[in-house]
Amino acid sequence: MDWTAWRDEFPIFRRTRYLNTCSLGALSRRVRAAQTRFLDEWEQHGATAWYSTWMGELDGLRGRFAQVIGADKDEIGLAPSVSVALSSVASALDYAARPKVILSELDFPTVSYQWAVKADAQRVIVPSTDGISVPPEAYEAAADDRTAAVVTSHVFFTSGAIQDIARITKAAHRVGALAIVDAYQATGQLPTDVHASGVDVLISGGLKWLLGGTGIALKYVRKDRLRELRPAITGWFGNRFQFDFDPRRFEYWDDARRFELGTTANAAVYACSAGIDIVLEIGVERIRARTMELGNDLVDRLTDAGMEIRSPRDPKSRAGIVMIPMKDPASAVHTLADLGILVDYRHDRLRASPYFYNTPEDNAALVDALRSRGA
Ligand SMILES: Cc1ncc(COP(=O)(O)O)c(C=O)c1O
Repeated sequence: MDWTAWRDEFPIFRRTRYLNTCSLGALSRRVRAAQTRFLDEWEQHGATAWYSTWMGELDGLRGRFAQVIGADKDEIGLAPSVSVALSSVASALDYAARPKVILSELDFPTVSYQWAVKADAQRVIVPSTDGISVPPEAYEAAADDRTAAVVTSHVFFTSGAIQDIARITKAAHRVGALAIVDAYQATGQLPTDVHASGVDVLISGGLKWLLGGTGIALKYVRKDRLRELRPAITGWFGNRFQFDFDPRRFEYWDDARRFELGTTANAAVYACSAGIDIVLEIGVERIRARTMELGNDLVDRLTDAGMEIRSPRDPKSRAGIVMIPMKDPASAVHTLADLGILVDYRHDRLRASPYFYNTPEDNAALVDALRSRGA
């Protein structure tokens, strides 16, 4: 694989050392071209484009996402954000007999908030002892026959730790609960086979490792769970008789479109499809190998420089996120940005996330800058 050619696809590298894919994937020339194509179609055809092109593009995106995670297209629904995608699943659960929802304290907060606002749901937030990971036993111990769902991340956003979603799914199924996974920090960089894992619902989006930008999320719902899940928030895109325009007649789609609500942001749909095309062209396995290599390189350089990391040491347990604890990470982010090195921070940690388009030289520049700053 000629990784230099891929780097050329992302113009941000002309000016910076971009190491922040876990906040936002870099913009590619292809995604920019897809935006232009969408605008050209809008300009040329107006609303006619819905029928001639755009409905097909929605379907195309569902199919691409299905391919990335090993699903079937009819198991995929579109949403404008992970929060909305989660809300619609949360609205489909019955909390009367099963009020408990098991979550972890390392999940992205929007996950837990879905249930914070539900009076009839009771959150059980499983703690982490090291701030990096949560032992799978903790979910197994917390889930019981009053549990509606076990909901957690495939990869934690503040540590990069990978969770065993097949094992967590088993823990949920053992007590008759649903297994719901937030895979926003995993999809694209981590090989995923939703059918093999047994997970019931998996949610992800374009923003990060799928290179597709803002405003689009995707939801997988396992085929044999679809019919029993009847979301209590909906819209005309969730109605199988959508184009009858009949306010009296609502019936859920039989497939995962039943979770969709209103008109899609088509610029985002185009961007996401173009981003996913890059991921599919390279292949997730190859991306994982490259990202692991770069992650290891960064960890080695930090260790050699005497710096700590707050991410799993074992490369197999760590996705492309490396956390570096420090007193004032916000000021480090600004200093580094002045040097053209773009990273982020969460809590008390600097967050660097090398992806396939990065190089060992990017890592070296980051570590040198941190060293001379006295991090
Ligand atoms: C793991 C994870 N889940 C969810 C979100 C946010 O989702 P959304 O803003 O699409 O609701 C983020 C960050 O942007 C995240 O890192």
